[in-house]
Amino acid sequence: MHLPVLLQETVDALAVVPGGSYIDGTLGGAGHAAEILRRAGPAGRLLGIDRDVTALERSAARLAVLSGEKVLVHGAHGELRCLAEANGFAAVDGVLLDLGVSSDQLDTPGRGFSFRFDGSLDMRMDTTRGESAADLLARLDVQSLADVFRRLGEEPRARRIAQAVARAQRQAPIVTTGRLAEVVTEAVGGRSGPRHPATRVFQALRMAVNRELEDLERALEEGLRLLRPGGRMAVITFESITDRLVKQRFAAHAGRWVSLQQGGERWEGELPAVVRVTRRPLEAGPEELAANPRARSAKLRVVQRCEAPVRD
Ligand SMILES: C[S@@+](CC[C@H](N)C(=O)[O-])C[C@H]1O[C@@H](n2cnc3c(N)ncnc32)[C@H](O)[C@@H]1O
Repeated sequence: MHLPVLLQETVDALAVVPGGSYIDGTLGGAGHAAEILRRAGPAGRLLGIDRDVTALERSAARLAVLSGEKVLVHGAHGELRCLAEANGFAAVDGVLLDLGVSSDQLDTPGRGFSFRFDGSLDMRMDTTRGESAADLLARLDVQSLADVFRRLGEEPRARRIAQAVARAQRQAPIVTTGRLAEVVTEAVGGRSGPRHPATRVFQALRMAVNRELEDLERALEEGLRLLRPGGRMAVITFESITDRLVKQRFAAHAGRWVSLQQGGERWEGELPAVVRVTRRPLEAGPEELAANPRARSAKLRVVQRCEAPVRD
C-alpha cells in the first residue's frame, strides 16, 4: 500500500478551493488526489494521469466514493497539455507532480524496480509499451551505459560499473534484478555504507527506461501554462537530479529584477511568471519519517502563477 508523502503540506500548499479544477500528473494510489477532491468538494474537478494501468484501476476504485468530477487517463505527463486540453482541463487551479515510483510498483518483484527482490529486469511504468531495462542494458555500449549511470544516477564509479555490466552481458544477458545487483556489487568491491551499491544504477536505469527527465521538463513547462493566474504547481521529487531541475525551472519563471542604468528596474525571466510559494523545499518531519521511510528524500517545491512578474 502506497502512503502519500507530505500529504497535508502538499494539499495545503496547493491552496485547493471548493469548485476548483486540478490535475494530478502522477496519480499513483490517488492519496493526494483523494485529498484534493475532498477539499474541492462536489463541484471540484480532477484530471488524474498515470502511465501505469494498474495504478489507474486501483485509483478509480478509491476515488469512486468521492464527489466531484474525476477523469482518469492513461498517459505520460510529458503530454500534459495535450491530455489536459483533450479532457476539458485547459485552464486549472492546480497541478501536482509526485514523481518517481510508488511503493506498489517498488514492492512488486515482477516490475523489476527494486534490488530487494529478484525479479524480471523490466522497470517500465507503462508495461503496455517501450523498452525494458534488460533490453536497454543489452542495447547500450559501455560509453552510453556509463553516461546513463553518471548523468541520471550521479554514480561516481559509472565507467567501472558499465565495463563490468558489458563483460557480464557477454557471458549471459542480464535479465533479472538479482543478477544486475550482483554484477554492480562485485564491480565496486562489495558493500560498504548503509546504501546498497546498486542504488544509483537502479535509479539511473529507471529514469532512462521511463524517460523521466524529458517528461518532467515538458510537464513543468506545460503545467505552468495550464494554470490560471493565481493557480499553483506543486512538485515532489526524490532525487537530487530531479529536484535540481524543478528548482532551476521554477527560478527561471520567477525571474529576477535587474537595475537599469537610467534608473528603475526590469524583470528578466521566462513566461508565464510565477512567485515561489516555497523558497526552500519542504521536507518530511520526524513523525512522517517514522511512519514512512520513503519520505526520507522527498522535497516539495511550489509556485504560484501570476498575471505579471512580481517580486517573490
Ligand atoms: C510516487 S507515485 C504517486 C503517488 C500518489 N501521489 C499517491 O498519493 O498515491 C508516482 C506515480 O506516478 C506515475 N508516473 C511516474 N512518471 C510518470 C509520467 N511521466 N507520466 C505519468 N505517470 C507517471 C507512476 O507510475 C506512479 O504511479
